[in-house]
Amino acid sequence: MHESRVPTVIPTTPFPDQKPGTSGLRKPVSVFQQPRYLENFIQAVFDSLPDHEGKTLVIGGDGRFFNAEAVQIILRMACANGIARMLVGKGGLLSTPAVSCLIRKHKAYGGFVLSASHNPGGAHGDFGIKYNIGNGGPAPESLTETIFAASRTVSRFRIVAAPHCDLGRIGSCRLNATAVEVVDPVADYAALMESLFDFDAISGLLKSPDFRMRFDAMNAVTGPYAKAILEDRLGAPAGTVVNGVPLPDFGGLHPDPNPVYAADLCAAMKGPDALAFGAASDGDGDRNMILGANAYVTPSDSLAIIAAQAHLVPGYAGRVAGIARSMPTSRAADRVAAALGVPCYEAPTGWKFFGSLLDAGKATFCGEESFGTGSDHVREKDGLWAVLYWLNILAKTRRPVADILAEHWAKYGRDYYSRHDYEGLDADAAAKLIKGLRAASLKGKSFGGRTVTLHDDFSYTDPVNGEETSGQGIRVVFDDGARIVYRLSGTGTSGATLRVYLERFESAPTAQGQDTQAALAELIGLSREIAGLAARTGRETPDVIT
Ligand code: G1P
Ligand code: ZN
Repeated sequence: MHESRVPTVIPTTPFPDQKPGTSGLRKPVSVFQQPRYLENFIQAVFDSLPDHEGKTLVIGGDGRFFNAEAVQIILRMACANGIARMLVGKGGLLSTPAVSCLIRKHKAYGGFVLSASHNPGGAHGDFGIKYNIGNGGPAPESLTETIFAASRTVSRFRIVAAPHCDLGRIGSCRLNATAVEVVDPVADYAALMESLFDFDAISGLLKSPDFRMRFDAMNAVTGPYAKAILEDRLGAPAGTVVNGVPLPDFGGLHPDPNPVYAADLCAAMKGPDALAFGAASDGDGDRNMILGANAYVTPSDSLAIIAAQAHLVPGYAGRVAGIARSMPTSRAADRVAAALGVPCYEAPTGWKFFGSLLDAGKATFCGEESFGTGSDHVREKDGLWAVLYWLNILAKTRRPVADILAEHWAKYGRDYYSRHDYEGLDADAAAKLIKGLRAASLKGKSFGGRTVTLHDDFSYTDPVNGEETSGQGIRVVFDDGARIVYRLSGTGTSGATLRVYLERFESAPTAQGQDTQAALAELIGLSREIAGLAARTGRETPDVIT
């Protein structure tokens, strides 16, 4: 055997900080560029999967800085660790939902997503890795704990010395004993979308001269997907997709589809000349923001409306088994579930907690307030799926987004909802704030006419597999149903971010047209008072409001 074909075992020493967070391992690029850092983590993944030899894995990423190098390293490590076949997106690109789709379609053993999602990219930005299991979804907590434990003791990693694979052309090549198949990143995903939605109706809408829309891919991975599906397949005018070429630094944009970071798009959706429909997606394509002319759909409302309008969508009509939402997501979906006569599950933050519910057929739709919506078609949230779902609703109803919202609220009531993020806090001060909130005895106390009826730290027992999770966020619920939730981000890479989730229910249609921050003003004040926010963090106002 030629020397370069022999797997090489390289000694290493552990890094202490390779604990996956809410969604995989995320660190500044400079951390991942340290010698052995990436290799250690990947070896820890292989060491945590005892039966991986001879299997197929999928790999691709959002194209951010370090994506190209990381793919080549992981391919050579997969080969050295005995993986038989690797499916790679052309150019090393795959959106997160496309990885999930490919794993499922090709019955792969699992896959790697290279992304730090909506975190900024570039040489000074973040990089990340998620490992997904055979159902196409994020590794469950039990596995991420095993991987972390393995990373703490890893003493060697395996890698073959081989030239770079050419990922620029679709086709097959061999990396020693491993077959590397470079696949079209879009084809299987686009076929799945076509099987779910009424493409003829959507195409009719997109071609009608009075319907103008924009999809902002934010220079991230959904550009090629959106162009292929919206423009090439469905006939939307060229230029419908903007910022459509994935760039290593996302062109300096912060690829997080929300009113703060997609400000240009939001501006085009306001005023008398507003577009009829606007949408954006994030770095790796799993998030979405939905806008209409002078209308903003909160992700919580989007989940509720998606479920309420399932009868209009071929892939879902007559088969809604249940809805699942993350705990901090508003209760709008619960009201729709009750009306449909199906259960609504409340899970901890992070898509990994939905996998078991989806696998068991208990949930058809899932959603998070953090611009994440999805269904049982894959095991990840899916940005473009949500956009196509909304286009399917609009094509069938031919109603403006604002009317769909207003009619939904008139029927179910409106859950005014907002999230306030306090970023870059001192980690100790933030931990103390949460500790203080946990220890406080708030139940029965009154604040400005509202009395606390529930105060706890959310814990969850998975109804399918019995796995338990605790410490998932402080809930303060009042007698009028209003709610404040506090939790610390698990995706940040520096300091601590406190997320404060605020909501209150309004049943009267005449009171449903208020500005959200004004409607929540009292509750916002309370959220600061109860947590002693200014005293503990020195902050009076949040950095990001969504
Ligand atoms: C954030 C969101 C959460 C989402 C995750 C990954 O996590 O809040 O809903 O699942 O990103 O996209 P956090 O930073 O709050 O831990
Ligand atoms: Zn993402």
